Amino acid sequence: MNMMSEAAVEKALDQKMNTVPFKMIGKDVSVYYGEKRALFDVNLNVRENTVTALIGPSGCGKSTFLRTLNRMNDTIDSCRVTGKITLDEGDIYDPSIDVVELRARVGMVFQKPNPFPKSIYENVTYGPKIHGLARTKAELDQVVESSLQKAGLWNEVKDRLHESGTGLSGGQQQRLCIARAVAVSPEVILMDEPCSALDPIATAKVEELIHELRTNFTIVIVTHSMQQAARVSQRTAMFHLGNLVEENDTDKMFTNPDDQRTQDYIMGRFG
Ligand SMILES: Nc1ncnc2c1ncn2[C@@H]1O[C@H](COP(=O)(O)OP(=O)(O)OP(=O)(O)O)[C@@H](O)[C@H]1O
Ligand SMILES: [Mg+2]
Repeated sequence: MNMMSEAAVEKALDQKMNTVPFKMIGKDVSVYYGEKRALFDVNLNVRENTVTALIGPSGCGKSTFLRTLNRMNDTIDSCRVTGKITLDEGDIYDPSIDVVELRARVGMVFQKPNPFPKSIYENVTYGPKIHGLARTKAELDQVVESSLQKAGLWNEVKDRLHESGTGLSGGQQQRLCIARAVAVSPEVILMDEPCSALDPIATAKVEELIHELRTNFTIVIVTHSMQQAARVSQRTAMFHLGNLVEENDTDKMFTNPDDQRTQDYIMGRFG
């Protein structure tokens, strides 16, 4: 799939971010909920093996944009999307696209940890089973171990794989949801405020994890925490009133942004 060699990733990361290829391209993306327009001609591209943070005041359209990237908006009846979004050059809104397959390529982790009321093992194997990625017990065992390893949860749960996922702590549940997303080998992982229900220690663990996941995945994360955006992302996009205000290297965004609105938001002057 999109696996770059580790050396290639490091090299790409060493260079200026703007040389990293685009994994997803959003062109003139507008979103309407019935009569209400929530996004205005957003042009935002997502770079490969990069963490892109979406920031901005409540209601500015962060979640709406995030959901356009794997067509989660399709589940909202009143919602209409215009413009074009591509994944590796393929139009994800093309009528021939199978959305179930799309969501396996572009996975999602939600704000509130939402493991299925099933065992830890079954939470992780659910996706690989429905997508036919693992069939035998040996294959399933393997996917469970490797996914939980990638999610930094293996050591904590390896002796209780057949206990319920809902019996874990909040932070563990969120890492289980990350393991579940990772289990189908997605190319892109979308995260909508994945730490907002977690305490600072669990948050630190998830942030560390996001940092590591970037080697193998492309990540887009919505966050209200400026510190979090600065810690985990390499690119940051600032939204305001449904418009993309600015997108830049995270370092630049937090030290010398191009737009006054970004400056004001980062300084806590609004939002
Ligand atoms: N299902 C929906 N039906 C109608 N309007 C919606 C729906 N979801 C979002 N909106 C509206 O679209 C706009 C953008 O909302 P969105 O949830 O994308 O903002 P956000 O930046 O994620 O905000 P927050 O930081 O509070 O999560 C808001 O005005 C919101 O009220
Ligand atoms: Mg939101």
